[in-house]
Amino acid sequence: MILVTGGLGYLGSHTCVALQRAGLSLLVVDNLANSRIAVLERMRALGGGEVEFVQADVRDRAALDAAMRGRRIEAVMHFAGLKAVGESVARPLEYYDNNLTGTLVLLQAMAAAGVHALVFSSSATVYGEPAFLPYTEEHPLNPVSPYAVTKRGVERLLEDLAAADARFRYAALRYFNPIGAHPSGRIGEDPRGIPGNLFPYLTQVAVGRLDQLTVHGREYDTPDGTGVRDYIHVMDLADGHLAALRHLLEARGSITANLGTGRGTSVLELIAAFERVTGLRVPHAFGPRRDGDIASYYADARLAERALGWRASRGIEDMCRDAWAWQSANPSGYPD
Ligand code: NAD
Ligand code: UFG
Repeated sequence: MILVTGGLGYLGSHTCVALQRAGLSLLVVDNLANSRIAVLERMRALGGGEVEFVQADVRDRAALDAAMRGRRIEAVMHFAGLKAVGESVARPLEYYDNNLTGTLVLLQAMAAAGVHALVFSSSATVYGEPAFLPYTEEHPLNPVSPYAVTKRGVERLLEDLAAADARFRYAALRYFNPIGAHPSGRIGEDPRGIPGNLFPYLTQVAVGRLDQLTVHGREYDTPDGTGVRDYIHVMDLADGHLAALRHLLEARGSITANLGTGRGTSVLELIAAFERVTGLRVPHAFGPRRDGDIASYYADARLAERALGWRASRGIEDMCRDAWAWQSANPSGYPD
């Protein structure tokens, strides 16, 4: 059985579907801080497997001990955490507590229960301002926001733990920009409040929940002047987790790897692709640059391919089509 923390969230729920489809049974622990219980039945229906659910906070050691007791947990996938870069600057205490304390308590509970394998949700934000592109895993690390510092802090903790305990193995996966949804449109990204990220904002404009998209900056040193990112389909990201899990369960050692496609797409290219796929118009206007934004970054995705035998197979148009399947069928997101 695999323990999935934060398994009702955006990335966790899609990964839970892929894990069930691979025949794995799951125990999901989530405190519902940023997700809804309606996700559970939908991911059970899509995955067709066994998913137990415990509503708990990963900082609650007693709750984790109770959840693991009597179950044979082979490995943990740790998605639970807070993820908004801007909010982390305004509320550092919450970010350090959720992301660092949460992981520390989880690792202590795992050690006590004799569980020695962890897949961790890290982030491309650990690299900071690019010294060169694409970012390889050897690129210098310069996390800037409290959020990025927590991700790098956990990576360092995992390195120290693996050095101290030969049984412990981890996969730290540095995600680039996951977007899209399960192709069924039954699960997808459902941020609370006004989306801070480009793609959920765009799909909410397309569905009529928001009036117009603001493109942050048009004079970056990029081919069309707008920001460039490495967008990866959420189901490719889910498959990457399955590959990382196999790597750990087959005792092939610890790994820190980028999960991206290796291709950059600008804001205007993404809008154009969405319009092409859906036949809709997305009203947009140009605004000033967003504080702290980097002009362009994308992954060198070769390590994951070499070491995990995984590479992203879905393209930008798949991401647009599947995100629209979700947003158009669920204009207000999940029911309460
Ligand atoms: P999400 O907010 O949709 O999912 C996180 C889930 O964890 C939610 O269901 C939330 O209720 C739960 N949670 C939060 N704090 C918890 C706690 N203390 N105890 C128990 N449950 C808790 O976010 P997501 O987009 O699915 O991201 C998952 C992970 O991936 C996060 O760690 C995030 O930092 C990381 N990540 C995300 C992105 C991205 O663009 N989405 C990029 C890089 C890294
Ligand atoms: N953008 C707009 N308008 C918007 C929102 C974003 O033009 O309304 C632009 C941004 O300026 C940027 C691009 O769209 O050029 C992507 O921005 P996002 O906010 O969607 O994503 P970021 O690259 O800033 O950050 C995201 C997550 C982080 C994660 C990181 C990993 O928010 O948590 O990807 O690469 F760590």
